[in-house]
Amino acid sequence: MTVTKPGTRPARPYFSSGPCAKPPGWAPDRLAIESLGRSHRSKLGKARLAHAIALMRELLRLPDTHRIGIVPGSDTGAFEMAMWTMLGTRHVTCLAWESFGEGWVTDAVKQLKLEPTILRADYGKLPDLGAVDWSSDVLFTWNGTTSGVRVPDGGWIAEDREGLSFADATSAVFAYDLPWDRIDVATFSWQKVLGGEGGHGVLILGPRAVERLETYTPGWPLPKVFRLMAKGALNEGVFTGETINTPSMLVVEDAIFALEWAKGLGGAEALRARCEANAAALDRIVAERAWLGHLAADPASRSKTSVCLTVEGADEATIKKMAALLEGEKAAYDVAGHRDAPPGLRIWCGATIESDDIEALGPWLDWAYSEAKKQNQ
Ligand SMILES: Cc1ncc(COP(=O)(O)O)c(C=O)c1O
Repeated sequence: MTVTKPGTRPARPYFSSGPCAKPPGWAPDRLAIESLGRSHRSKLGKARLAHAIALMRELLRLPDTHRIGIVPGSDTGAFEMAMWTMLGTRHVTCLAWESFGEGWVTDAVKQLKLEPTILRADYGKLPDLGAVDWSSDVLFTWNGTTSGVRVPDGGWIAEDREGLSFADATSAVFAYDLPWDRIDVATFSWQKVLGGEGGHGVLILGPRAVERLETYTPGWPLPKVFRLMAKGALNEGVFTGETINTPSMLVVEDAIFALEWAKGLGGAEALRARCEANAAALDRIVAERAWLGHLAADPASRSKTSVCLTVEGADEATIKKMAALLEGEKAAYDVAGHRDAPPGLRIWCGATIESDDIEALGPWLDWAYSEAKKQNQ
């Protein structure tokens, strides 16, 4: 059956799962640039960094108990900084159900030479969260971006845990209501739900994480960009905008644009509502098509941001063809699943996407599927 090419395209065909679509209305000339070309330690530079931190704190409703700072190396930098500075004094449990969680397992085993308990699940599933031993430090991704599987909530994180919870929450922050009292360490990058740029990570530390930093010194060397302690005390400057090394003020200004956009919409609830509406629009597309399915079988743990879809009969080559056809038509960019995931599509439903654009995508998926199948014959 031939499907005719749809007449209307998504107005913004940006469906990549990172870096993600810019906020609607974003344009480079809308960024404040007074801080560019100035020292990041000037009064102005420090004020802009502090403003970004204050906006994040306000939007995330971060309790006063938790610190929030800007660090180098995007989400990876922030998460590895936490691993390198805090692990090694307790047994470690790593949860992995897709490639990013698996990356932290590799760090723990091969780099830090820890012997963690590893709880794994295949793509599309979650490991048994009830099996986690909270006397250990626990590493996990809140939203596994390459499988579209997230933890449903924070109820499985023990309130009276002895170990620390380390959440790589990069595709989750601003998309879900995160229970800060259950989170000792969280990391994210602006490039996801906010539609910001990569390059900088955000590190959130609860009081028990700070206590760990203040009472434990790891046995391995720490590069300067990981050092959160200075002269025996926590380097509080990191959490007020005195970054460890030089930040990109352009990236910071871009993040401020996104945060102010989010605030103008109504804050965290508005961002979450947008993610949910987008995921619901995509759900309807999936429900109407027998050949499309969700990789995440259980709706409770199905991502509302990085939604991963199965495509009947499609191998990697078919998916590549579909993605190339959609890109060629400027109908959808970057929708092939991650290279480590089973062949399928991945469509970002984060807050910077418009629901109308998800809706407009349905007929284009039909067209690309039919064309790719024809080329395969
Ligand atoms: C769950 C998760 N962790 C870590 C990363 C790495 O993020 P970054 O490239 O910002 O360091 C990503 C990127 O997609 C991710 O989705």
